[in-house]
Formats: sequence, C-alpha cells, structure tokens
Amino acid sequence: LTVDWDAGHYDTGGYEHYLLKEISEQPETITRTLSGRLDERFHVAHLGGLNMDARETRSFRRVKIIGCGSAYYSGQIGAQLIEELARIPSDAEPASEFRYRNPVVDPDTLYVAISQSGETYDTLAAVQELKRKGGRVIGIVNAVGSAIAREVDGGIYLHAGPEVSVASTKAFTSTSLAFALLALHLGRVRDLSPADGRRVVEGLRRLPGQIEQILQQGDKIAELAKKYAHHPSMMFVGRVRGYPVAREGAQKLKEISYIHAEAYPASELKHGPLALIGPDMPTVAVVPDDELLDKNLTTLGEIRARGGQVLMVGHREPGAKLADDVIVIPKNEIELDPILLTIPLQLLAYYAAVVLGRDVDKPRNLAKSVTVE
Ligand code: AGP
Repeated sequence: LTVDWDAGHYDTGGYEHYLLKEISEQPETITRTLSGRLDERFHVAHLGGLNMDARETRSFRRVKIIGCGSAYYSGQIGAQLIEELARIPSDAEPASEFRYRNPVVDPDTLYVAISQSGETYDTLAAVQELKRKGGRVIGIVNAVGSAIAREVDGGIYLHAGPEVSVASTKAFTSTSLAFALLALHLGRVRDLSPADGRRVVEGLRRLPGQIEQILQQGDKIAELAKKYAHHPSMMFVGRVRGYPVAREGAQKLKEISYIHAEAYPASELKHGPLALIGPDMPTVAVVPDDELLDKNLTTLGEIRARGGQVLMVGHREPGAKLADDVIVIPKNEIELDPILLTIPLQLLAYYAAVVLGRDVDKPRNLAKSVTVE
C-alpha cells in the first residue's frame, strides 16, 4: 500500500495560503465524502469499507471514539450524532490519554479511531492496544494507505484530498460528515425511521451549497477578525452540539493566530470562567436555533451585562442588546448544525492570523503530523 499523494505536488491554487484554499474547497470535499454513499430509496448510507454485515452492525452496545486535537473534537461531534440518530451510548476521548490508562476493551463496543494523516503516533498506539486486546476498531481517515488505515478492521475514507496546512479544516468537516453517515448507517439498522433517514439524507445533500453561502461571507468575517484580533484572549462558548464547535473554534484561533482562547460549555460559565469576562475578553458564542436557544441567549445577556463583547454565530440576529456582531448561517437539520457552524470559525481564525502577520500554514512549534510520543 502507498500513500496516495505527496504534498510537494500541490500548490495554493491562486489562494494566498493553503489554509484559505482548504477552507474554500469544503463544498467539493464534502461532496466527495458523500459521493456514492447516500441511498435515496432506503434512506441509508452505504459504507462498504466498514466490512460489517447488518447483524454485526446491530450488535454494538456502545461506541468509543478516539483521536487527537481537532480529530478528538470532531469525535465529540460524532458521539452526539451517533447518540441522536442511532441511540447508542457514545463518547469521545483523546487517544493520547486513552492509550495510557490501560483501557477496558469490551467486545460489545465499536471503537472508532480518527486521523486525517493516519500517522498520529498516539492514535496509532491506541489502535494497536485495542487490537491486541481483541477490540473491533474502525478508522475514519483521510490519507489512503496510512499506518492507521492499515491497522484497523475497516473504515471510512474521507476523500478530502491532501490537507497541507498544519491547521485542520476540510478534514475536520469531512470527519464530522463521515460520522453523520456512520450514525445514519447504525441508526437505520436500529430504530431510526425511514422518514428520519430521509430527513438526514436530504440535509446532507444540502450541505455543499450551504457551505458555499457561508464562504461568501468571507469579506465580512475578515472585517470582524480585524475588530477582534487585537484582544489578547477570547472566550468560546456553546452548548451540546455547539460545544465541540466552540472547542474547535478556540483551537483554530490559538493554533494559527496565537491569541489565547478558552472554550467552555455556555452552561459552565457561571461556575468559574465568568470571572474572566470583561472588556478585554470578547466571547465567540455558538448559538444554533435549537432547543437551547433561549438558554444561550440568556447567557449572552449575562456576558454583555459584564461588559463583554459578543460575536455570535448562529441562525438569526438576536438583537443589539445580546450580541455586538452576528454571523448568520443557513439552517439545515439540527443534527448537522455543527458542520456548518464550524466554517465561520475557521475563517475567523484564518483572518485573525493574517491580520497579526502570522505564519498561517506553518504555525510555530507545531507539525502537521505528530508521529512521535
Ligand atoms: C488541528 O488543527 C491540529 N493541527 C491537530 O490538532 C490535529 O488535528 C491532530 O494532531 C491530529 O492529527 P491527525 O488527524 O492527522 O491524527
């Protein structure tokens, strides 16, 4: 087996940085991850690479997801998707921690390892430990023929193409999408109804066009980045589906702009981090139109009451009292919100890094693929 690309052969395609190219490619990369995998007749996902028949697919009682950094955050999105659509208890954990704590390997659990590069040493070592103990492990991997792809029992390739910039963007959204496909697959051999399957399939088909609409707001987001990038620190908050998005948004900002960023569940602010809020620390709030909208809006009011600025990413304008700035994104099915909510945060981090003159594609101290312990 060989790895199917060499980063040296790719250029920025007329964009100023690989990162902007990779963010901008997402309508196509999402289309490629979906390609040939949606079934309009039975409203299911075809995932032949899992190498599992229907009986085996039905047999798992838990799902455990492992990955590092952004891969782990997309795993948190994945765990929620699987719980919502397939009703299987699921959780995500950093592979770098999992491998060191002598995990109990359960035959009724499906283990999912995520890696863009397929070469992250901690994730590979966790997979090897799982396999040694007889665990059933599948991979969600971008790089074809990589070490993790070779080690797992089956999996889902992202087909997102080479990701050159150190900060992961298109692999993150394609991984989250692969989890939506996996959740649909696991759900439709259980209790997810054909009607709900159809709703999800139709939602997945709308994603590329909606990502295009978000990308068209690039100039506006560049202006917002100019406004916020001079702050030494930023808070990111979200609830439930919005929380892993907030974590990923903070990660992107830290990684490439070197602005200090914290991510918290919005519900946790009053248990400590609210003490940080003030004019020096603006908040990026991930606020989709879901069952938690009212609670989220209350939190925004609490932040504003303490002098904190709020940049909200969501589906509607909440009014000038609750947010200083708003990035409005198109509405899809609620379970798919995290994929769309992530895109404005990628652009915000990108433009903040540009404003500050950072080395966008090769941030200090970081490597694209961490192949050491
Ligand atoms: C993402 O922006 C980071 N560069 C980093 O967290 C990355 O996602 C992590 O190192 C895992 O890499 P992998 O997906 O190649 O395993």
